[in-house]
Amino acid sequence: MNSDSIKMLALHRKGHEFGHAIYLSEKIGSTQELAKLMLAKGIKSQHGTIVIARQQLNGRGRFGRNWISPTGGLWMSVIMTQGLTIKRAPIIQFLVAISVGETIAEMTRIECTYKWPNDLLVHGKKICGILVDVELQGNIVKNVVAGIGLNVNFPAAHLYRSKSFRLHSEVTTLRDELGYDVPLLDIIKLILEKLESYNKLLKNGRIKAIMDTWRLRSEKFDRMITIKEGNTVIQARALGVDDRGVLKVELPDKTVKEIILGDLYFTCDKPVSTLG
Ligand code: BTN
Repeated sequence: MNSDSIKMLALHRKGHEFGHAIYLSEKIGSTQELAKLMLAKGIKSQHGTIVIARQQLNGRGRFGRNWISPTGGLWMSVIMTQGLTIKRAPIIQFLVAISVGETIAEMTRIECTYKWPNDLLVHGKKICGILVDVELQGNIVKNVVAGIGLNVNFPAAHLYRSKSFRLHSEVTTLRDELGYDVPLLDIIKLILEKLESYNKLLKNGRIKAIMDTWRLRSEKFDRMITIKEGNTVIQARALGVDDRGVLKVELPDKTVKEIILGDLYFTCDKPVSTLG
């Protein structure tokens, strides 16, 4: 991937919803921050504009965590200004997850699983994280920046060795899984195509179709999990994710709680119903 091939890709995407304008940086703090700055300043930030970096020096994960972003990964932010209602906005992270998951499957035959709300795993190890930042105007989501961090052509050992690495989950990369490199440009091209077709579903209100696609390959439910919501830690049985993208859990007193945001750790691999 170089600036010429990116220019060619943007040309090829002319007239399409995503990727008609692509900005590639060699090394920046964070594509997410740059995309948000472009929106704030009204510079080159139409719906479907993409910001990509070969390397991020200050990549952002959820909950203000670092996202280590060496050369060889796909670090990309997608600007969306389609004016979604607040109700539909949470679906974006699922839409992005299935777009990336299907791209990986079609290009490599690796079938990822999805972990609520925004992770892609291979054999239980995290390979991709998604970060969605939204800007509201009343009841309308004015702008969305969807950040995709996909570990592609570098060894996971690189992340484990990094001083700023904090282990929240085991991690892997496509190179580690496959033993060879996958062209970043082809991955980007297919993700953009998938985003376009799934976003069409979203715009047509076909939210159930998006959520069904996500649920088809989501981590198994009916098992005990630990959820962190800010400083609170809850032990509960995961029941499933509904069409609003909300995780439903059963608390020890049998009441059902809805989790809208949080961090999920599976504490037990077996379905609860099979536990003694
Ligand atoms: C997570 O915590 O799992 C989300 C990680 C999101 C990382 C991506 S990389 C591209 C974009 N730029 C950033 O600084 N973060 C997102």
